[in-house]
Amino acid sequence: MDYKRYLITAALPYANGPVHIGHLAGCYLPADIYVRYQKAQKRDVKFVCGSDEHGVPITIRAMKEGITPQQVVDNYHALIKSSFEQMGIAFDVYSRTSSPTHHATSQAFFKKLYDEGMFETKESEQYFDEEKQVFLADRYIIGTCPFCGNENAYGDQCEKCGSALSPEQLINPHSALSRSTPVKRKTKHWYFPLNQYEDFLKEWIIEGKKDQWKANVYGQCKSWLDAGLQPRAMTRDSNWGVPVPLPDAAGKVLYVWFDAPIGYISATKELTNLWSDYWQKEDTKLVHFIGKDNIVFHCIIFPAMLKAHGGYLLPENVPANEFLNIEGDKVSTSRNWAVWVHEYVSDFPDMQDALRYVLCANAPETKDNDFTWKDFQDRVNNELAAILGNYVNRVFVLMHKLCGGRVPAFHKEVSDERDVQLEQDILAAKQKVENSIEEYRFRDALFEVIDLARKGNKYMQEKEPWIVAKTLEVHPENQKLIDNCLHHCLQLTANLAILIQPFLPHTAAKMCKMMKVVDRMLEWANAGRMDLLKANYPLPAPEILFRKIEDAEVAAQVQKLKDRSLQNQPKVTEAAAPAASPAKESIAFDDFAKVELRVGKIVSAQKVEKADKLLQLQVDMGSEMRTIVSGIALHFSPEDIVGKQVVVVANLAPRKMRGIESNGMILMAEGEGGKLTFVSPESVVPAGSEVR
Ligand code: MF3
Ligand code: ZN
Repeated sequence: MDYKRYLITAALPYANGPVHIGHLAGCYLPADIYVRYQKAQKRDVKFVCGSDEHGVPITIRAMKEGITPQQVVDNYHALIKSSFEQMGIAFDVYSRTSSPTHHATSQAFFKKLYDEGMFETKESEQYFDEEKQVFLADRYIIGTCPFCGNENAYGDQCEKCGSALSPEQLINPHSALSRSTPVKRKTKHWYFPLNQYEDFLKEWIIEGKKDQWKANVYGQCKSWLDAGLQPRAMTRDSNWGVPVPLPDAAGKVLYVWFDAPIGYISATKELTNLWSDYWQKEDTKLVHFIGKDNIVFHCIIFPAMLKAHGGYLLPENVPANEFLNIEGDKVSTSRNWAVWVHEYVSDFPDMQDALRYVLCANAPETKDNDFTWKDFQDRVNNELAAILGNYVNRVFVLMHKLCGGRVPAFHKEVSDERDVQLEQDILAAKQKVENSIEEYRFRDALFEVIDLARKGNKYMQEKEPWIVAKTLEVHPENQKLIDNCLHHCLQLTANLAILIQPFLPHTAAKMCKMMKVVDRMLEWANAGRMDLLKANYPLPAPEILFRKIEDAEVAAQVQKLKDRSLQNQPKVTEAAAPAASPAKESIAFDDFAKVELRVGKIVSAQKVEKADKLLQLQVDMGSEMRTIVSGIALHFSPEDIVGKQVVVVANLAPRKMRGIESNGMILMAEGEGGKLTFVSPESVVPAGSEVR
C-alpha cells in the first residue's frame, strides 16, 4: 500500500524520573532515525510524544520527595524534554498528559465507550487507608518481605530480593501514606471486556501480522492471545489522574494505561488541526515505537480500545526493542544503575552523535544487549573516528594539497572501472539503507553507511593520488587522474552526509558546513548523485568530525556508576552528626576536590510537618531540580528565601529526614549568637555553576 501520511509515536515516558540511555536505545533513537529518514524522503510525517504524567509511580515519587505529584511531573517533564532536545530527538510535538486537551480527549473516549454500554462494573475488595481515607494500590502498601526480611518491601514487589508479592504476603503491612494498618474495603470499577476482542485481535495479529511484525513482538502477542484475555479494570481509586467522567465516580480516575496511549491522539490534536487525517484516514501509516515492556498495551489493549471506539486506525507496525543493560547489569533506577541522558550530555558536550552511533550500532533489536563504556570508546574511536571521520578528513586534506582547495572537475576521458565501481557502491548502499530502515533494521542500515565510508577509504588507497602526484613533473596530464579520484571522494562525502543524516544529524550538519552546501542537499533523493558538489567550488579546511575517547574518561564513567550504586545500597544505620569542633585536621587537596559545590537557586520552600527546624526546599541546580531538607526553619521563613542563590554540596549521599529524601546540603555561615546566613555568590550566576 502506498501511504500518504506517516504518524510515528514514541512511548510517552513516565515523568517520574529522568530518561536513561536504555530508553534512547529501546525506543526514541530508532523512532527518530525512522522519522528523519522519512522526512528526508519528503514524506508527510508527524512524530508525536509527550510525558506520561499519571499513575502510581508518580504519586510514590511525590511521597518520597515530600512534594506534590504536580511538582514531580513539572520537574521531570522539563528535564526529559530537554534531554531529548539535546540528543537531537526531534519530535514535532512533545506534549504531556496533564494537558487540558488530553484530559478532555481521554474523558471523551471513555464516555463514548461508556455510552455504548461497553463497560461492566464490578465490586471488589481493596486495601484502604482509614487515616488518609484513600484506597491503596499494591505499591502503596509496605511491609516486611517474607522471603528476605526487607522491611520496606512493596505490596507488589520486594526490590531487595526481586520477589513478586501480593499485599497479603507482607508481614506487618502498613500504608506508605500514613503508616497505619490498611483495611479491606469494597470499591467499584469499570471493566473493559477485553475478552470480547479476542477474535478480532487474533485475526488482525495472528493472521495479518505474523510475517510483518518483529518476532519478539509477535511472540508476546501470540502468548497473550493463547492464554485468553480477561476483562480489565480501566479505572482506579486515586486523586491523581484523569477523573472518570461519570456522576457516580468521585475519587476515581482513568487507569493510566487507558489514558496514556490516548495521549498520542491528544498530542496530535495539539500539533495540527488536521489531526484526524493522521488518525482516521486509511492511507496513513501508524507506527508505535516502544520498549518491550509496553508490547501488550500497544498491541492488544490499545488496539482493542480503538476498535471499540471505532473510527480510528490501527498501528501498521509496533517495532519494539528489547532492553539495554549497563556494564553487564540490568538498569535499576532505585540503585541508580543507569547512564542518565542529561548527565551524558553534560559530561560529553557536543558528542551527542557519538552516543547516537553507539546506541544504534549496539541496539537491542532482537535481544537484550549490553552497553559498556569500553565498547563505547572502541566504537567511537575505531569505527566513527577511524573510518567515517578519518575518511572525510583525508579527502579534505588531499583536496587542499593536490587540487588547490577546490572541488576538482571529473574528466570522463580518463575515468576507469574503479570509478564506476564506487558509483555503484554508493547506489547499492543507498538501496540497502533504505530497505533496512523501512524494515526497522537500524543497526544494519547504519552498518551500510559506515561500510560505504570504508569503501571510500579503500578507493582512495587504491588510487593513491599522493603517489600519482609524484609523476606530475614528467606527466603533467596525470593531474586529471588525481582530479577524478578526489572528485569522486568528495561526491562520496556529500553522499555520506545524506545517508548518515537520519542517524547522526549533528554530524551531517557539520559536514554540510564543511562542504558549504545548504541542508536541502540532504534530501534523500539526492543520494547516488555524483554532481552534488560543483567543480571549482573552493572548500574550507576540514573540521575534526569526531574526537577520540580517552581511557581516563572511560574509567571515570565506570567509577561514577559504581560509586553511585554503592551510595544507593540500603543503609544500615544513619551516621550520627559529628560534634562541632573548633578546628579540624588538615586534609589533602584531593580530599577537598571530592566535594562538589554548586550554586543552586531556591525555587520553593515549605515547612516540614511536625519538625519545627526543618524546611523542605526545591532547588534548581541547572540541569535538575533537587529536594533538599535543611535545618533552617527557625532562622528563615519560607517566603523570605525563595529566589535566593545558595551554595549546595551537590554530591552528598542522599539522606532521609522525616521520611523525605534530601539530596544535598546548603552551606550556611554561622554568625554571632548562632545567627545563620546563606553563603551566596556575590553576583547572580547560572544555576548549577561550580564553586571552586
Ligand atoms: N509511560 C510508559 C512507560 O514508560 C509508556 C506509556 S506509552 C503510552 O513504560 F502509550 F501509554 F503512552
Ligand atoms: Zn525480599
